[in-house]
Amino acid sequence: MRPARRTVRRRGASIARRAPRRMQRVRHAADVRRAVADLKRRGARVAFVPTMGAIHEGHVSLVARARAGGARVVASIFVNPLQFGPREDYRHYPRPVRRDRARLAAAGVDLLWEPPAGDLYPAGHRTRVRVTELGDALEGASRPGHFEGVATVVLQLLLVVMPDELWLGQKDAQQARIIERMVRDLGLTVRVRRGATVRAADGLALSSRNAYLDAAERRDATALARGLAAARAAMAGGERSAARVRAAVRRVWRRFPRVREDYVAVVDADTLAPLARIRGRVLVAVAARVGRARLIDNLEWRAR
Ligand code: PAF
Repeated sequence: MRPARRTVRRRGASIARRAPRRMQRVRHAADVRRAVADLKRRGARVAFVPTMGAIHEGHVSLVARARAGGARVVASIFVNPLQFGPREDYRHYPRPVRRDRARLAAAGVDLLWEPPAGDLYPAGHRTRVRVTELGDALEGASRPGHFEGVATVVLQLLLVVMPDELWLGQKDAQQARIIERMVRDLGLTVRVRRGATVRAADGLALSSRNAYLDAAERRDATALARGLAAARAAMAGGERSAARVRAAVRRVWRRFPRVREDYVAVVDADTLAPLARIRGRVLVAVAARVGRARLIDNLEWRAR
């Protein structure tokens, strides 16, 4: 990762010196297609950053990475009802629309697409995209239907934007893996890129749902990153039993009374299949409830 970061900074500096471009805002697919065709006619590579809004530094870093590679950036804001379960937070999901627009404009987004729900899911819309197996474990087990909603909307967005690159955050590693697989299985030509998880100074992974935490919960929420640090230390110290790596995470979590475990999993980073022994590229994925927030985090690690 180090060389990439240096590149980002170096190129980021040159971007900062360029005159800021005005962000164009559109609502309908036809306008997106026209604007993207125009960018491509002028020789631009197009990167796409799909979001559900509540923009934070994690999203901003994806835009920065895309721009650092020289692409023009299309972002979308769409709180996708299809990926929320009936008892989940769709209605309360934060929607600070004006602030989001300002942040994306400042980050250097060229085109912001805010589709109305009726455009993506007109009456009678029946098509769903399901990536089998990868979508059933971890988040898929806790949130039935979630990844079907994600894959369906991402495919629909991709078919309109037709970008050269798609940028997703490593914090949602399972989501990224599923979309990578969907892109491969369907023969889409877009290149899927992952941006590193962006963290607060105390390690908490940035997430729109952190907004639900009160001060005491916010302190306890650091348990997720602390637990992952303990897992990393165990593996770096030679631990090869997945059960003992999971136990290392849980030992940390016991010190934080507001943390209620959903899962602590050690899986193969490609197949997401559970591992008994630490080998190859490993994903330690965790999910917990802290107050009314359900938080996830992960760590990717390669065993030598
Ligand atoms: O990660 C998200 O914000 C969403 O799952 C995504 C990819 C924008 C699809 O709605």
